[in-house]
Amino acid sequence: MSNRPLGIFDSGVGGTSIWKEIHQLVPQENTIYLADSKNAPYGEKTEQEILQLSIKNTEFLVTKGCKLIVVACNTATTNAIDYLRGHYDVPFIGIEPAIKPAALQSESKKVGVLATKGTLSSSLFHSTSENHANGIHIIEQEGTGLVQLIESGMENSAMSRRILEIKLAPMLAAGIDYLVLGCTHYPYLIPVLKEMLPEGVEIIDSGEAVARQTKVVLVENKLLGNSKEKGKHHFYTNSEVEVLEHFLKENSDSITIKYLDF
Ligand code: DGL
Repeated sequence: MSNRPLGIFDSGVGGTSIWKEIHQLVPQENTIYLADSKNAPYGEKTEQEILQLSIKNTEFLVTKGCKLIVVACNTATTNAIDYLRGHYDVPFIGIEPAIKPAALQSESKKVGVLATKGTLSSSLFHSTSENHANGIHIIEQEGTGLVQLIESGMENSAMSRRILEIKLAPMLAAGIDYLVLGCTHYPYLIPVLKEMLPEGVEIIDSGEAVARQTKVVLVENKLLGNSKEKGKHHFYTNSEVEVLEHFLKENSDSITIKYLDF
């Protein structure tokens, strides 16, 4: 048992979609969330740059005494998690595009994956998609531009719709019945996507699975918090506090958000 905090980091505000799933499943846990929004988007950076930023974020969370770290970013997971696991003495939970459940459930055998360039070009993504996509045609699209819009609180804008229209077109033409959201920012596009996608196309992301896995690893490592009270939640951003506030407005009574120059 440990009431030390869970650490969560992302290139920005997207990982709050994962934080919400975790918070719902293990509300007694204290959390520290780091939004490296100043350096977003990670998806346009080199593998080396993504690795260095992931190390910097991890160092911060380790220094804060975190008992487990959730890499709430597909781009950082697919480019850096092997290194992090090999160099730090805390359990890491990563997130990858949910190709496996989509491939298993797809009837049309056509699955769309919307993710960042950094995720789609990673070797971890390639091996996962080869392992699970037996007989499935995967149509990949880079969501370039979407992370920046979400980081500006413009997830529901004409510009987001325009980019999505372009990205969805080849997937819809191919006849997908599953759309995998391979970036933790993209769940904030679901209301817009639901308006744009034809009936019969399911949206799938990995948030809930990551929360479940976090709980399993906490239990396995005897790290699950046993407090009777609800956890305390500290959010840090190196960019605008207002954007994090925007995405966390329904949780505003139980969290603190601070600007930090890191
Ligand atoms: N939330 C990150 C992910 O899941 C976004 C990456 C980026 O900053 O480009 O991939």
